[in-house]
Amino acid sequence: MAAKGRQSEPTHVRERYQHLFEGDGGRSQPMLHKLGIEIQDFGTMRLLPIALSNEVRARSCQSLNRILADTQILYSLYKKHHWLMRGLTFYQLHLLLDKHATEQLELVDLLAERVQTLGGVAVGDPRHVAEITTIPRPPDGAEEVLAMLSRLLEAHEIVIAKVRDAIETTANDGDTGTNDILTSDVLRTNELQVWFVAEHLVEQP
Ligand SMILES: [Fe+2]
Repeated sequence: MAAKGRQSEPTHVRERYQHLFEGDGGRSQPMLHKLGIEIQDFGTMRLLPIALSNEVRARSCQSLNRILADTQILYSLYKKHHWLMRGLTFYQLHLLLDKHATEQLELVDLLAERVQTLGGVAVGDPRHVAEITTIPRPPDGAEEVLAMLSRLLEAHEIVIAKVRDAIETTANDGDTGTNDILTSDVLRTNELQVWFVAEHLVEQP
């Protein structure tokens, strides 16, 4: 017999996990394989008392999620190229690209937690990220070294363009907290990384 409180689970789930419903763990049986309903839809806003209108917070969250999706892709691109690097400058680039990946991952967390702070839902699942990003997908195989570096620079510029737009919008909206993160952290990190990568694409005598 199904335990009380588990009646809402679909029949096929009860059949599959019958051993759990009939377990004799008392009140300490871990509730495994719980099926949940979505309690906040993506794109909707919770009302948090931070003296910013719903409209402003929603606008900021939409921009942040687009930048967050691109930043997750840029992080993955850095890791991929860190692994696939080759050639005479292998070690130097291998280390540099990993450093940039780590810094991008810090931005991912910063952006996601800003979305949550504003009452939104941060994009997290890579498959959802892939639907939102506008950074072109690289080939699954390895590209030439210069092409890998050039691809990183193009991805940076896509992110930076969105960040500049969002900096302007959040300034007009009075969303200073988001504006500060975008300017001090996201923009400056991306600009600096562009410099470090771009210097490898200069022809040397
Ligand atoms: Fe590594």
